[in-house]
Amino acid sequence: MTTKTMTLPVETTTTQTTRRPRRLRRTDSIRALVRETIVRAEDLIYPLFVVPNSRPKIEIGSMPGVWQLRAHEAVDEALRAHDLGIRALLLFGLPEYKDGIGSASWDPAGPVQSAIEAIKRAVPQMMVMADVCLCEYTDHGHCGVIVDHNGVKDVDNDQTLPLLAKQAVSFAAAGADFVAPSDMMDRRVGAIRSALDDASLTDVGIMAYSAKYASGFYGPFREAAESAPQFGDRRTYQMDPANVREAIREMELDIEEGADMIMVKPALSYLDVIRVARENFDLPVAAYNVSGEYSMVKAAAERGWIDGPRVMNEILTSIKRAGADLIITYHAMEWAELQRR
Ligand code: PBG
Repeated sequence: MTTKTMTLPVETTTTQTTRRPRRLRRTDSIRALVRETIVRAEDLIYPLFVVPNSRPKIEIGSMPGVWQLRAHEAVDEALRAHDLGIRALLLFGLPEYKDGIGSASWDPAGPVQSAIEAIKRAVPQMMVMADVCLCEYTDHGHCGVIVDHNGVKDVDNDQTLPLLAKQAVSFAAAGADFVAPSDMMDRRVGAIRSALDDASLTDVGIMAYSAKYASGFYGPFREAAESAPQFGDRRTYQMDPANVREAIREMELDIEEGADMIMVKPALSYLDVIRVARENFDLPVAAYNVSGEYSMVKAAAERGWIDGPRVMNEILTSIKRAGADLIITYHAMEWAELQRR
């Protein structure tokens, strides 16, 4: 044996020998040991679209793997989700009829109410959340009541509040654990909180879509929920994508009015807003990994341009790393199934 190799390290400086981050990446076990962010099935909220029994079960063209379900099919999906460790669902409804004020949304026999009751009967442990908004229920597709101000149509904030409150109480009375207002009207959290309390539904919580941006990423959802605005857009009520200080004010107001959780939506182009929410407030922060974010992954993976599951993992991890406690995502089932393998 020569002593040649033993002379090699003598040349290296202290800096070179101590600073070697790759030591922590050398094996799977080491990487697992030092991993900072871990997504759990319990962090995920799985959105479901429910339709009246008169309609068929159909897959949404722009969202492969996402379906419009009837109540009994939503129950099957809830059972499957529960088996995979998912603890929370967020329900959206497509009503039997639409009108100017979205009155189908507080029909006790509506699709969301029926699905909540059926899911709670079959899987009582499942946390059921219901999205509160008028856009799926109005014939004009806006999230509130439309008024005409000298020929200019606008969504009237204060006329909308009692309708949202009525809808929230109806979902809560059907058994929802949480309601999630997504309309972006001012003071809706307070209006919903008071209405729930007046109806003795004090245990029902509010997850507020606090920083919800006017986003192009909602495109596929509007096909799924049949909720595209029939004129104009949502920029007079949803936030300008350029603003982050305004997001803090929106979150502050929702918390003052009684929100139990706050949400940032969409997630990926707004990771900085999630971080700001985490650093400024101590309530649970949810992030909505929205339809367009999901569809882009599915479309690119279908073409073989990206590795879908790998990108999905990276996306969910990044949302959690940014500071979200909870992630609402259409990937929930696929993600949970992958953990099983
Ligand atoms: C209803 C609502 C929307 C989403 C959730 N609730 C659409 C919108 O504001 O137009 C979007 C969810 C998604 O894109 O996945 N107001």
